[in-house]
Amino acid sequence: MKLGVNIDHIATVRQARQTCEPDPVRAAVLAELGGADSITVHLREDRRHIQDRDVRLLRETLQIPLNLEMAVTAEMIAIACELRPQQACLVPERRQELTTEGGLKVDGDNALLGQAIAQLSAHGTQVSLFIDPDETAIRHAHALGAGTVELHTGSWANAWLQALRDPGSAQRHACNQERLRLEQAAAICAQLGLRLHIGHGITYRNVRELLHLNGLQELNIGHSIIAHAVMVGLQQAVQDMKALLHAGPCSPI
Ligand code: PXP
Repeated sequence: MKLGVNIDHIATVRQARQTCEPDPVRAAVLAELGGADSITVHLREDRRHIQDRDVRLLRETLQIPLNLEMAVTAEMIAIACELRPQQACLVPERRQELTTEGGLKVDGDNALLGQAIAQLSAHGTQVSLFIDPDETAIRHAHALGAGTVELHTGSWANAWLQALRDPGSAQRHACNQERLRLEQAAAICAQLGLRLHIGHGITYRNVRELLHLNGLQELNIGHSIIAHAVMVGLQQAVQDMKALLHAGPCSPI
């Protein structure tokens, strides 16, 4: 089970002052020393956090795979084809959003998406599609030639937090339903032979509740690790998350 560490927030702090620190490239080294299996950065159209320079330097210096999170635009595809990151995760992007809000709309009429997958794959990049845990989306992702999907765990994570804050049966039920959706989606991925990644809203407190998912290979986690790193340092924060992955699944709240 692999841990991808998303370091966008390091760049967010730097950009708050338009300065040169903290440097995500240095952060990536610490994450790597803490046991990260890959580093994820989202180069956004508006460059609000990660900059082109960061992606270039990470690609040159990382000893572990770089996972480039990106929108399906001509600009991003050209950058990815030039830099050839080991992994790319295709996501929807809206300028106004605080973070990626939902999965890609994969509905069968996705010629551009299919072309992007083919182009990136031809450059040696393993492509994943960030999608909701929905059977139709998974089947379309497979048909489009994606070898990997990253299931959006945000709805489950929100329901989990509600169940924790207000442990009434309705909240528990909603959380169980979201977990069931993820379990069913994971089973379909396994049937189709898709590699399974998950990401969004995963924290130190909830991560072990998803480790039982059938065929799960990689978790991509950002906010919770960086939040913990503010207190204990990034290398320690990554080590602490890796320890939970090693501890294995636990029963739901
Ligand atoms: N995976 C994808 C595709 C994302 O967009 C994000 C958020 O940048 C993450 C994983 C990490 O989510 P979080 O910061 O909530 O851990």
